[in-house]
Amino acid sequence: MKKVLNIGHRGAKGHEPENTLPSFQKALDLNADGIELDVHVCKTGELIVIHDFNVDRTTNGSGAVSELSLSEIKALQINNEIEIPTLVEVIDLVGKKCFINIELKGRHTAKPVSDLIEKYILEKEYSYEDFIVSSFQREELEMLFTINPRIHLGVLSQASVAQALEWANAFSAKAIHPHFSLLTEHNVQKAQEQGFKVYTWTINETEDIERIKSYNVNGIITDFPERI
Ligand code: G3P
Ligand code: CA
Repeated sequence: MKKVLNIGHRGAKGHEPENTLPSFQKALDLNADGIELDVHVCKTGELIVIHDFNVDRTTNGSGAVSELSLSEIKALQINNEIEIPTLVEVIDLVGKKCFINIELKGRHTAKPVSDLIEKYILEKEYSYEDFIVSSFQREELEMLFTINPRIHLGVLSQASVAQALEWANAFSAKAIHPHFSLLTEHNVQKAQEQGFKVYTWTINETEDIERIKSYNVNGIITDFPERI
């Protein structure tokens, strides 16, 4: 069996509050090969690392991320003590210790993410291998591919592997990111024969991890990086 990369979902969500600096640090401490996170653009244009379209579930505040300024977002607290991080803060924390899977969760995220990756490559000696950008949103994937086809793309899908492959071919993606319930040994092999890596999500139970590993996937996104 080949090595399966372990990718920490929203950091190490099984151990620390999701999409926070402590969660990403925990994933690094657990020797994750990569970390996964979600981004939105806030009212003042910065890229914010948060899963939901609003801040209600994870913080002591309320409102849509797109309607809040950076200073308003920074005044919020997660678990009474932790700030919502920007994407810049997460990249700087991670350094080049592992790759970063940036999920374009919010709309209009492709351009600012492309600009930020370019900045790190040009100014801080990062390479395209340090990032993979994924999304369920066809428009954002298409936009990113149009702006900079050198950025590594991953096509997220909870519909079907066939749909992920169609989009992956359209946008010259490096990987497909199907939900693990969609996988069979056969469709993993077919995707790899077409030249795509298979990174699947979100698998936490040991029994599921072992079964999906036996399909020779390239990576598993998990809340518990130590279990892979
Ligand atoms: O990127 C894989 C996974 O994070 C997609 O689902 O809802 O956790 O963002 P979700
Ligand atoms: Ca995600």
